Amino acid sequence: MKKLYFGSNLKMYKTIQETVSYLQSLYEKTKDISRDDIDLFIIPSYTALESAAKHIDQSYIKLGAQNMCWADEGQFTGEISPIMLKELGLNLVMIGHSERRHVFGETDSEENQKVKAALNHGFTTLLCIGETAQEKDYNISAEVLRMQLKIGLHDIPLSHLSNLWISYEPVWSIGVNGTPASAGYAEKMHKIIKECLTELFGDAGKDIPTLYGGSVNPDNACQLITQPSIDGLFTGRAAWQADKFEQLIRDAMASYEAQQKN
Ligand code: PGA
Repeated sequence: MKKLYFGSNLKMYKTIQETVSYLQSLYEKTKDISRDDIDLFIIPSYTALESAAKHIDQSYIKLGAQNMCWADEGQFTGEISPIMLKELGLNLVMIGHSERRHVFGETDSEENQKVKAALNHGFTTLLCIGETAQEKDYNISAEVLRMQLKIGLHDIPLSHLSNLWISYEPVWSIGVNGTPASAGYAEKMHKIIKECLTELFGDAGKDIPTLYGGSVNPDNACQLITQPSIDGLFTGRAAWQADKFEQLIRDAMASYEAQQKN
């Protein structure tokens, strides 16, 4: 059975104290689940990272940053460098989340610079991609995803691939006004992503985990996780209470295991 990936981006929610108590509770509730079966990760705000890293055993819950500058240091007011994140004991960084691209105007070539820097510094690097509603209407989702992958992963050496994860998050599916992608649609796009990764990296591309994100909730988690090309769930709102996230993880795991036995 393949390893499943479960994670949450806390966005600009939760204070330092709230983050630490959420993480402690999530740890208590999920520590019995073998980490050979799942990878569990949480991506808090920058200000909570230091305390989070002090309180949480990252062999149980990996901690990540929501963004990172490509440069090690320099005249980049307001940015955080890979070296600063390493100093906190972090090994995971998310690049190109939909809100970075669409609220803050980041481009594919900027994501590429960040992905390269993150991989060079040994971070597990979670690159997020996804088409807008308009691009879906134009029926160019496949083209958009392929472009985001081809530019975002330009010039990445094969030796770094084992640290690369991809999350497919259609822009129209994210947040309070989002509509979750159907499991069938998500699977279709994940297949396109996996094909593109194989085209870019050969067989090694097949091993890159691809997660689905965008209004994952208790009603759709099991259907999504049992799609053959979906390796994990990247959950926002439905994960922000530890007991709810625990239940979602356990239900998704049970569905996946039951499917594998049949
Ligand atoms: P959501 O967020 O699950 O609240 O839609 C997903 C995300 O932005 O990663």
